[in-house]
Amino acid sequence: MERLQKIIAESGYCSRRKAEELIKNNKVTVNGDIVNILGTKANVGDNIIVEGKTISKEDKEYYLFYKPRGVISSTSDDKDRKTIMNYFNTNKRLYPVGRLDYNTDGAIIVTNDGEFANMLMHPKNELEKVYIVKVKGIIDGDAIRKLKQGIVINRIKCIPDKVKLRKVDKIKKSSIVEIVIHDGKNHEVKLMFERIGFLVDKLKRERIEFLNLDGLNSGEYRRITPKEIKKIYSLIK
Ligand code: URA
Repeated sequence: MERLQKIIAESGYCSRRKAEELIKNNKVTVNGDIVNILGTKANVGDNIIVEGKTISKEDKEYYLFYKPRGVISSTSDDKDRKTIMNYFNTNKRLYPVGRLDYNTDGAIIVTNDGEFANMLMHPKNELEKVYIVKVKGIIDGDAIRKLKQGIVINRIKCIPDKVKLRKVDKIKKSSIVEIVIHDGKNHEVKLMFERIGFLVDKLKRERIEFLNLDGLNSGEYRRITPKEIKKIYSLIK
C-alpha cells in the first residue's frame, strides 16, 4: 500500500503536489469511490482513475542525451529557451539527472525514474564525469599543478580526480584540458578555471563513467540498456 498521490505521481500523470490538489478537488476515484482525503493509501493494482483517466504504472525509461550548446537542461524555461524536452517525442514525464550549463554540451542522463535520479544526485553517489575544457590563454605546468591541488569554491575544496593538458595553441592563445571530477557543484569546472585566471571558452562533458557519446550527434539520444543501468547501480553501492 502506498499513498495515493505517490502512486499517481509515479505513474507519470502529474507531480505529487498536483496529485494532492486533484485528490482534494474530488478528481480521483479508487475502485469506483471518490477519495478526497490526503494520506489515503491504495494499491498499485487498484483501479485508480484521475480526471477520467485510468492510471497505470509507468515503465521506466533511461536515456543518454547529447545535449547541444544553447539548450536548458530542465523541462521548462521561463525565458522560453529550448529545453531538453524539445528533443524527446514522448508524453512521459522525463527529466535530466543533474545539470549542464546552457552553453555546455555533452552527455546527460534523462529519465522518468525519480528514485534513480535522486540517488545519482546525492553527493555520496556522484558518478565520474569527464570534461573537455577549452580555455582562453596558455595553460602551463603551474596552472595544472594548482588545479590538481584543488580549488576552493564556496569554501569547499574541489579536487579533481585527474587533470591533463591535451593541447596548447600558441598562435590562437588557447588550451584544451581534460578534467575528471566526481562532484557536481553548479558551474564547478568554469569556476575552477576562473579561480586560476583562465576564462572557459567551451565546455563539453565527454563521458559519465562508461557512458560516452560514441555514435551520437549533438541533439541525439539513445536508450541506456538494462545492463548499463545495473552497472551504474553497482558503481555506487
Ligand atoms: N561545470 C561547469 O562549470 N558547467 C557545467 O555545465 C558542468 C560542470
